[in-house]
Amino acid sequence: MARSSAVRILVLHGPNLNLLGTREPSVYGRTTLRELDRRIQRHAVARGAEAVCRQSNHEGQLIDWIQGAAHDGFGAVVINPGALTHYSMALRDAVTAIALPVVEVHLSNIHAREEFRRHSVIAPAAKGQISGFGPASYLLGVDAALEAAAGRTPRRAR
Ligand code: DQA
Repeated sequence: MARSSAVRILVLHGPNLNLLGTREPSVYGRTTLRELDRRIQRHAVARGAEAVCRQSNHEGQLIDWIQGAAHDGFGAVVINPGALTHYSMALRDAVTAIALPVVEVHLSNIHAREEFRRHSVIAPAAKGQISGFGPASYLLGVDAALEAAAGRTPRRAR
């Protein structure tokens, strides 16, 4: 069967995001990861694209997926790195290493939270960051990733 020409977006969820729905619902809401992934996939399809969603609690696994994204046929990556956002130079190096655009997303507004969450070591390596819109952060992230994959974002930015 011929492979579809729809742009494929890899959506990565980092540590503890498997617990969505029950984890601190006052901060992260009641939507489960399963429901969130369905919303992301429906959103991508409505835009003529395809989203493949993966979650891992392991930094190395996320790095392997980022490194393999182009080879696996993806045109862009959307990632919520969870707490790795704030300290993982290895994840940042992986984002820097690949040619694909990477959009960083967060459910909560990390800039309005505890001091340690206000700094992202990933952001300088990413195309951009979307933070604070709950599940919609991912949908906006998919839209941004599609814009970037189509070359409709400023070239000087990553
Ligand atoms: C988060 C914010 C991080 O600080 C936190 O460690 C998470 C979730 C968010 O989506 O708001 O795990 O990335």
